[in-house]
Amino acid sequence: MNGPLLEVKRLQVAYAGNQALDVAGLRVQRGEVVGVVGANGAGKSTLVNALAGWSRGEPTVGGEVSLAGRRIDGWAPHERIRAGLALVPEGRLVFSRMTVEDNLSTAFAPVAAEGRRIYSRDEIYMLFPRLKERRGHLGSQLSGGERQMLGIGRALMMGPQLLLLDEPSIGLAPQLVAQVLQTLRTLAAAGLTILLVEQNVRAAIEVVDRLVLLERGRVVLEGPAATMGSDPRIAQAYLGAHA
Ligand SMILES: Nc1ncnc2c1ncn2[C@@H]1O[C@H](COP(=O)(O)OP(=O)(O)O)[C@@H](O)[C@H]1O
Ligand SMILES: [Mg+2]
Repeated sequence: MNGPLLEVKRLQVAYAGNQALDVAGLRVQRGEVVGVVGANGAGKSTLVNALAGWSRGEPTVGGEVSLAGRRIDGWAPHERIRAGLALVPEGRLVFSRMTVEDNLSTAFAPVAAEGRRIYSRDEIYMLFPRLKERRGHLGSQLSGGERQMLGIGRALMMGPQLLLLDEPSIGLAPQLVAQVLQTLRTLAAAGLTILLVEQNVRAAIEVVDRLVLLERGRVVLEGPAATMGSDPRIAQAYLGAHA
């Protein structure tokens, strides 16, 4: 199929009249890993939540969101999941009173996912051997990194075309951040399209193809990850370079 997998036009979100997001345009091509980076409060969560049809509070949402050429804005969150858009939110989509095994066993792919890559529980254990070791543990007993792996695992079992991740690096030890983010490259190589939201620019820039910088709800800069690291606006503000 031609055209971008995700296309966003004039996406605007306001909380009680205060504009939190105003994205004129954003495209994600099939197989691409795109990072949306920005400071705390820049609107990153607001963006992925709006794409998934979720909201915290009662925002006013306007604009167009298309997945594989089909308009999905206005659709309920479960309808978007059915269409192949899965979000691993900051809360990580994990049930704390269920074991790892049960968390994975209750993640169902929608019938419509036929023809898409649906990961089995065993494949998730192969991707994250740590989860297999911890399969009898409750969600509440997991470390931040393990919860992140489990959240990603559950999302993959729903057969997504597009995986949205909201700050997977938060609360993780630096070594684990690299490990979890590198897994995204493995998934992309297997055909998954990924939109990764991160405050950790240094970590994100290592794994994404393209970087989008969000400031006060707007896209202020975007380009290939390979060249963005040397852009003074990225380097100074986020990578701590002394130009
Ligand atoms: N439920 C809400 N009610 C009111 N304002 C909100 C709500 N959620 C987010 N905001 C505001 O929207 C802006 C963007 O927030 P957010 O998307 O959470 O940023 P980020 O994820 O980049 O840290 C912030 O100014 C934040 O205070
Ligand atoms: Mg956020």
